Amino acid sequence: MNDARTFRAPGRVNLIGEHTDYNLGFVLPIALNLDTRVRTTPASDGMLRLHAAAHNETRTWPTAEIASLTPHSHWSDYVIGVAQQLLARGFGIPPLNLHIESTVPEGAGLSSSAALEVASALALLQGRALDRLEIARLCQHAESEFVGMPCGIMDQYCSLFGCDHAALRIDCRSLEAEAVPLPDSVAIIAVNSMVKHSLGQSAYRTRVAECAEACRAAGVTSLRDATLDQVRDNKRARHVVTENQRVQDFVEAARGGDAARMGGLFVESHRSMRDDYEISCEEIDFLVDTAVGLPGCFGARMTGGGFGGCTVNLVAPEAAPAFTEAIRRSYREAMGRDPQIFVCVPAPGADEIGGSFF
Ligand code: GLA
Repeated sequence: MNDARTFRAPGRVNLIGEHTDYNLGFVLPIALNLDTRVRTTPASDGMLRLHAAAHNETRTWPTAEIASLTPHSHWSDYVIGVAQQLLARGFGIPPLNLHIESTVPEGAGLSSSAALEVASALALLQGRALDRLEIARLCQHAESEFVGMPCGIMDQYCSLFGCDHAALRIDCRSLEAEAVPLPDSVAIIAVNSMVKHSLGQSAYRTRVAECAEACRAAGVTSLRDATLDQVRDNKRARHVVTENQRVQDFVEAARGGDAARMGGLFVESHRSMRDDYEISCEEIDFLVDTAVGLPGCFGARMTGGGFGGCTVNLVAPEAAPAFTEAIRRSYREAMGRDPQIFVCVPAPGADEIGGSFF
């Protein structure tokens, strides 16, 4: 059909800087070569119709009802949340059929939700101009206000601003980013544990609240401004303050091509998440401990919100095939299930496929 349009938005893997975004600190994700695609066609019946191929489900509403919909703990919440944010900014929702397909695994810590939000925002905008940073913000608001997950801005920002040759160091306070090219001496491999413990969502909220409390105790407006001396006795805040420093150190190591130092920082970051932020789990610790003992692996850590999902591994490219096989075999033997393994290649940010959206 001639009126069909397709929009894509990538998932992301965060290299380092975990739980620092909502503390207005630093993060270093790459947008992934895995994405969510939304194909749109005009709907002649005045409806907004969503079809998610992965769930083989369709949801339909008259466009006039979208403003008053409430969340249902359903995948469609991400799209409706975005639609309501667009409405609040004066962008009407046209009658459309949205066909949604994704290669970003759900519940893996690779931001399938942000990819869906951003691809939906572009699809619903249908080419109407809106600043990319504003799209990132409205998608974040959709997730925190409609879906009910008080996330930071990293995932949506990365999905919109990703670079095809580099990681993105984002300053989550100024919302400025710089591209950080990665040395050829490292391949980035994500290993999906295939578990997502249900504790994750409530623990995320608790951590956000614990950080706010730590700010009050230290007399700062965000942990970005706290020094290690101010928070030494608070495990949660200590993770955030040291993690911010690790992002800076990692960027310096990456620029200097120092793969060993980059890997060392991965391991320190993981220990800090495991022991101070307490967001790891048995399966993830197993993957990290196994990975760091394998030839050619410089370092490994959990990536994403926590309690399951993926590890991210820095591996010498020539060692990658043997690494992949060994980690797969060990995990299967220990945990009785196959991990999913992705060789991650930085991808560009969201856009219209075959079109000129921006
Ligand atoms: C989730 C959130 C992000 C970020 C990470 C942890 O992915 O959506 O905003 O807080 O967890 O770094």
